[in-house]
Amino acid sequence: MPTHAIIGCGRVAPNHVDGFRALDDYDLTWACDRDAVLAKEFSAEHGIARWSSSVDEVLGDAELTSVSIAVDHAQHAELAERALLADKHVLVEKPLCLSVSDAKRLAELAAARGLVLSAVSQHRYDPVVLAVREWLRDGLLGRLLYVRASLEASREPEYYTESYWRGTRAGEGGSALINQGYHCLDVTRLLCGELEVRAAVANTTALAGTIETEDTLAALLVAGDTPVSLHVTVGSTTQWRTRIELVGDRGTASFDIDHPGAVHRASGNAELERRAEAVRNREVEPPPPGIGYYGVSHRRQIADFAAAVRDGTPMAASAEAGVGMVRLLTALYAAAGAA
Ligand SMILES: NC(=O)c1ccc[n+]([C@@H]2O[C@H](COP(=O)([O-])OP(=O)(O)OC[C@H]3O[C@@H](n4cnc5c(N)ncnc54)[C@H](O)[C@@H]3O)[C@@H](O)[C@H]2O)c1
Repeated sequence: MPTHAIIGCGRVAPNHVDGFRALDDYDLTWACDRDAVLAKEFSAEHGIARWSSSVDEVLGDAELTSVSIAVDHAQHAELAERALLADKHVLVEKPLCLSVSDAKRLAELAAARGLVLSAVSQHRYDPVVLAVREWLRDGLLGRLLYVRASLEASREPEYYTESYWRGTRAGEGGSALINQGYHCLDVTRLLCGELEVRAAVANTTALAGTIETEDTLAALLVAGDTPVSLHVTVGSTTQWRTRIELVGDRGTASFDIDHPGAVHRASGNAELERRAEAVRNREVEPPPPGIGYYGVSHRRQIADFAAAVRDGTPMAASAEAGVGMVRLLTALYAAAGAA
């Protein structure tokens, strides 16, 4: 049976435990955190057989098939490369890494060694997102006239001051966009195709004096000739809300990708309204342990990852998708003068 290790036992790690535990043909064998106390506690809490504070010890396990990398953004490239060189398949939390050259190198390394490399993009697997993708494919929205995507979140200063990496350019590589806004941009790119940046503005307003990165970013992009506007902030009074609105010449769809994903508006033709009703009436899974708005789709992406490891099947959250996001984030920060 393939075996897996989680490197980084912080906020998102329980979603990786949940995803691997949902599989009956994969074993979760290691919890690793450079903070030994945390690694030990996490392994005890989740019933994981082995723990370590050393990535080298974990990667030295010849029986180990794959790893999750769930640490600060700045270390994604180095840890992913070390894992690939140790012949482990890699599921790295978003973003894949912080530079386009590192992203391309990692994707090439994985391909050359026949290993799976995937950056977490769990909302690509959300039922609402998959449904909207079908509506677009089936022409139910017609030609897209414009798209609006936004993430509104609130983050207290302690979220940054109590972290060793958040709110720093070196550790996080940005904030509102690259961290919280990542998913709404990723899903917009999945639905609309490649995005090109026309203009961007980044500000630090609500968290001025606390973070050196942006708390707010707005941008105008194009998908082909369709204008796409993006607004992200972590300075709002709303805890978390990601909304995407697609306006086409046959129909309009507006939905949230937070848990549970919700279709607010789907209007313009009877078939679109019928399909939206079916999505609204679907059965919704309870959120996994941990932070609710991360949703349940880590489970779906981890099942896709396991299938790719086992059968070599292509993943919806492919290495190329991760590289494309790093390219787009880099272009947005450059346009905002925040690179
Ligand atoms: N997909 C999502 O919805 C989602 C949600 C939250 C976080 N994330 C991503 O997950 C990653 C981690 O975020 P988090 O909020 O869990 O961070 P966190 O700060 O809560 O946890 C990171 C952990 O990594 C450990 N660590 C750091 N360097 C290490 C090393 N070299 N070896 C072993 N352990 C090391 C730290 O001690 C810490 O416990 C980030 O990339 C973040 O963007 C994704």
